[in-house]
Amino acid sequence: MSASATMPYFIKPSVNLSREEKRAAYAAARQAILATLGEEPSEMVKMVTINSLLKSHLPYYYWVGFYLVRGDRQLVVGPYQGTLGCLYIDFGRGVCGAVAASGETKIVEDTHALVPGKEHIACDPNSRSEIVVPVRRPDGSLMGVFDVDSSLESSFDAVDQEELEALLGEVFGG
Ligand code: SME
Repeated sequence: MSASATMPYFIKPSVNLSREEKRAAYAAARQAILATLGEEPSEMVKMVTINSLLKSHLPYYYWVGFYLVRGDRQLVVGPYQGTLGCLYIDFGRGVCGAVAASGETKIVEDTHALVPGKEHIACDPNSRSEIVVPVRRPDGSLMGVFDVDSSLESSFDAVDQEELEALLGEVFGG
């Protein structure tokens, strides 16, 4: 994809929310996710349900999805919604790889300020800000990372971090 690409017909540009609006949107999304999943054990079913309901409740979610651990130093793309996602990411590379290596959530205000290919991997040049959260299983092992992109700068803050860490912990038990 070129430097700034036209968005496919099914994708809308991001719309940022205030902290209060975010809190209300996350509360509604969490309720819908827990009601939909009930006691469902499948990680795949949980991932696709989370992607769909968070994207429909939060208008700045331009790309949303999971990268899953394969072997001990690689991530492979899992369920997602949005434009084409890169297939493989090594631990330590890009935002997703950095989070997989550190186990800590990372918020990026402006992806274009990072070193391309090293600190940030631009699967879609329309991605301008990002949050990546580690996802763990009940035994504490890293299942993968949850990645959200916005087509606007500075869409993510401590509210997103708090809400996503709590929701992913609740759903995947880690
Ligand atoms: N930007 C991510 C790669 C995944 S895309 O956003 C879907 C990164 O730097 O790791």
